[in-house]
Order: sequence, then C-alpha cells, then structure tokens
Amino acid sequence: MFLWGTATAAYQIEGATGEDGRGPSIWDTFAHEPGRTRDGHTGDVACDHYHRWREDVALMAGLGVNAYRFSIAWPRVLPVGSGRVDPRGLDFYDRLVDALLAAGIEPVPTLFHWDLPQALEERGGWLNRDVCRIFADYAATVAARLADRVPWWITLNEPFVHMAYGYAMGVHAPGRLLMTGALPAAHHQLLAHGLAVQALRAAGARQVALTNNCTPVRPASDGEADLKAAEAYDILHNRLFNDPILLGKYPDLSAYVPEVDFVRDGDLETISAPLDALGVNYYNPTRIAAPPPGAGLPFEDAGITGHPVTAFGWPVVPDGLRELLTGLKSRYGTALPPILITENGCSQEDALTPDGRVEDDARVAYLDGHLTAMRQAMAEGVDVRGYFVWSLLDNFEWAEGYHQRFGLVHVDFATQRRTPKRSYHWYRDYLRKAQNTDT
Ligand code: FCB
Repeated sequence: MFLWGTATAAYQIEGATGEDGRGPSIWDTFAHEPGRTRDGHTGDVACDHYHRWREDVALMAGLGVNAYRFSIAWPRVLPVGSGRVDPRGLDFYDRLVDALLAAGIEPVPTLFHWDLPQALEERGGWLNRDVCRIFADYAATVAARLADRVPWWITLNEPFVHMAYGYAMGVHAPGRLLMTGALPAAHHQLLAHGLAVQALRAAGARQVALTNNCTPVRPASDGEADLKAAEAYDILHNRLFNDPILLGKYPDLSAYVPEVDFVRDGDLETISAPLDALGVNYYNPTRIAAPPPGAGLPFEDAGITGHPVTAFGWPVVPDGLRELLTGLKSRYGTALPPILITENGCSQEDALTPDGRVEDDARVAYLDGHLTAMRQAMAEGVDVRGYFVWSLLDNFEWAEGYHQRFGLVHVDFATQRRTPKRSYHWYRDYLRKAQNTDT
C-alpha cells in the first residue's frame, strides 16, 4: 500500500510543555532566550495538540490519508533523557496510535525531531558520544510500548539541518556556532541512528527508516571555483548523511576538517545497517557559488532566480524533486532502499476570508507540481512508497515562530480554531482518485 499522509513534529504542535512530567528540551530553552526566535515566539502552546489530538485525528480521517508521520517528544518519555521513564508521556502516544489505527491511519513516528532533552545538552548534546547509546535506550523504551502496533519507525529527522542550524550556524537550538567544527554532531547522530536501528529491531519493530533533508545542488556557473564549491555543498548537505547510511563510508572530508578523529572502528558498520526505506524531505534545489575570500564555509548560497517563491522565499521548483529522486537512484543504485517522501510542502501568506475560507491556491499548485514530479521519477524507475505533506496544521516553524504557515489546515493561534484550507479539500480529492487507481 502506498502511504499517503501528512507530517508534523512534537515541539511544533503539541504545546503542554510542562504537563504530565515532561522535562525541558533544548527548544524550550532556546525559544525562551531573547532574540532567538522571531517575535520571541515559543512552542509553549503551539497548536495545543496535546489536548486537541482527537480533533486533529478527525481532521486526518476527513482528509482520507492512510498514514501520519508525527514525532515523539523524547523529554515526555524520559524527562532528563535517560533513566526514569514517565509513563504519562508514553500513555499519550499510546492513545494517539490507537486512535489513528481506529481511523485507518498508519502511525509513522519519528523518534528525534530536534527536541533533545535539556539535561543531555548539559552533558554536551550531540557532541558527546555517550548520547548515542542513550538514544538507543530511549528507542528501545518507546518500541517496547508501541512496536506491536506501529508499522514504520523513523529514527532521526534531518540530521543535516540539526547539525548545520543547531551546531554550525547557531540559528536553531542548541544555538552553537561551531562552523565545520559541528561535524562530530553529524557523526554522533548517525551512530545514534545505527544503534537505534538495532534496538528497534530487537524490540520487534517491523520497518525502520531515517529521514534526510536532500537537495539537488546546482553550481552557479561552470567555472572551477563554483564547481568546487557546489561539490563541497553536495558533500556536506547530502553525501555526509546518505553515504554512511547507504554505502557504509564517509565521503572525503579532508578538505573541510583537519582531522576526522571522531569515527571509531565499527561505527560505520553500525550506521549502515540495512533500512526498509530512506525518508527524503524535499523543499527546493540549491544553487551554490564559491565563497568570498576568508569566509568560514567553503561555499555560498547563490540563490535560485526565475521561479516563484514561497512565503519563506524558498524557490518553487517541482522538477527538482524528480531530479533529486532520479539522482539518488543513479548515485546509489542497488544500495538505495525504497523511498518515502517524508516531507514536502510550502509556507504561504494564508489569510482567513471574512466567511472563514483560506484560498491557498499557491499551495495547491505547489503540491500538484511536486506530486507530478514524484510520479515522473517513479515512471523513470525510482521506487517511491509514500508521500507526506508538510504539514497537517500551521505550526511553530522553529526560528520563524508562527510567521510561516505550512498547514493544510489553518490554525488561529489565539483561539486554536482549525479551518481546513482549499489545499486540504484539494488533497482529499487527489487522494480519493489516487487510492482508487494506485495499486
Ligand atoms: C523541515 C523540518 C520541519 C519543518 C519544515 C518546514 O526542515 O523537518 O520540521 O520545519 O522543514
């Protein structure tokens, strides 16, 4: 069965950050520091999904999806990251899983979508190798409770973005500015993934994947310096995360780090344990130029012109998804497992009309174009098994707070009123047709 779904993440929708024993995460800390997020927005309340999850499951049932990708908040399950489990956290996800199954929706939980327990940050976060084993223990704890009912597990969400924004450039939690010194945070996330795969399989998990953020990289020109910069970007954004998982080795990193002293014997075997799918999040391609002299990074984003842009300013290039998927197949060949597109979507300046509608035609065009591109890649031989729209609901968009709306459902954050947008109705009709014709 092709998985047709929507996606969310715990800190972006749940709220209730102090309830039922949940411990603080790095995102609670970061969002409460002055100047870190736009207008000081935090996820304290978000979409109040922790209390309104029944209504949200009903919205998905009305949409007709057969899968839902959400994330489990590690500090709800283990308030200080390891040791004492708070059963109330697990109870919440247990009820959610049962409600989804009762509505004919397959739960697809992600174990880590950036909300590291703050207590683990105080031990060094992903720069501390010990956190890898602690993550695997957390995975085992959750699987012991849910693996009997959950068909698909995703270990990590976008280790690239967490490393780059959280550890290299300091614009996401935990707010570190280490530039290429952030690379150990990549390796430790990947090692944590590998150890979690072992823990999940031992607990009876049926199918396991990891989600990478992937982007096709285009050089700004065919001059040597731009080509070299584009290769550097492709290595650090894409291959650093896909090669070890799929090929069991890192690309050559010697030009970017003085010494790769954080990889130990056996790590790559653990990291490259076979997966049932590769999760791919796609938003846009990237155009890369050589950096100015003395820059801290070996590339510069040159921006893509000539395409419409989203409210975030991200270029809308649907064919980039076809390019990405066929590119993965030609790069990895038989080492590429089936693909789940675990996120795709766009932010738009959505407004409620006085009579309560949201006419988000640009989102409809975005989704339509990307679904066509996905089908073209499938016709070209790429094995895609699922597609999840980011996102079900407008939500807390990290450093942008509530300013970027990605939902199929509009959320009025003052009243928590949910209003399905035009794109919700469009996706519902699309799914009806797809489910009648797809095998
Ligand atoms: C991805 C994140 C997701 C959301 C979208 C817009 O990088 O995984 O949480 O913020 O971008």
